Amino acid sequence: MVAARSGIDLSEPMLRYTERKAARCKGNATLLQCDLADFTLDEPVDFACVLLGSLYVKTTDQLRSHFDCVARALRPGGLYFLDWCVDFDPMTETAIGWECARDGIRVRTSYWTRHADRVAQTYEENVLLEIDDNGVHKRIHERCLKRAVYPQEFLLFVETHPCFEFVGWWNEWDFDQPIDGADIVNRPIALVRRTGY
Ligand SMILES: C[S@@+](CC[C@H](N)C(=O)[O-])C[C@H]1O[C@@H](n2cnc3c(N)ncnc32)[C@H](O)[C@@H]1O
Repeated sequence: MVAARSGIDLSEPMLRYTERKAARCKGNATLLQCDLADFTLDEPVDFACVLLGSLYVKTTDQLRSHFDCVARALRPGGLYFLDWCVDFDPMTETAIGWECARDGIRVRTSYWTRHADRVAQTYEENVLLEIDDNGVHKRIHERCLKRAVYPQEFLLFVETHPCFEFVGWWNEWDFDQPIDGADIVNRPIALVRRTGY
């Protein structure tokens, strides 16, 4: 049996990049250019995941619509894994940066956030790449609006959704580090299950 694998993204270049990576590891994947708040898979799957905090929704309606899409995309008993999508610390005025270099190309990355609307729980996320490619300089700045998802509303949201149940959440991708009671939360993962089996 061949498992169905699908990937979705709004960005055409990101889908082409994924296609090249999938070809390198001889994976076959159906890539769909669509919004994570409005998508349908031809065939339901056993596992869905969103990585690297990529739950890009701007409103509560979009968040609801996203979970409804995932519920339709998963078989009963299927799991939905969310990496870095629950904001255990408010995304207020976060600022980090790092630098890396290879083959004469040096990239300085800066990431920062700013409150946008306190009632809508939105914040502006910025990623700035300052590139020095063997003396040629380039600057790429991406800015987008994101709705924060706080822990108690995530729990409430999952528990009141007719198609999901909460399985657990952990720190640092480590099942030996359940989040409950943790002082510091870095890179949290959360797992929910599609009910109805
Ligand atoms: C941080 S990158 C992660 C890329 C890749 N999915 C990964 O896990 O490495 C976030 C991605 O989310 C995509 N994105 C942003 N808003 C989206 C939306 N509403 N629906 C689908 N994809 C979206 C962007 O185009 C971008 O490729």
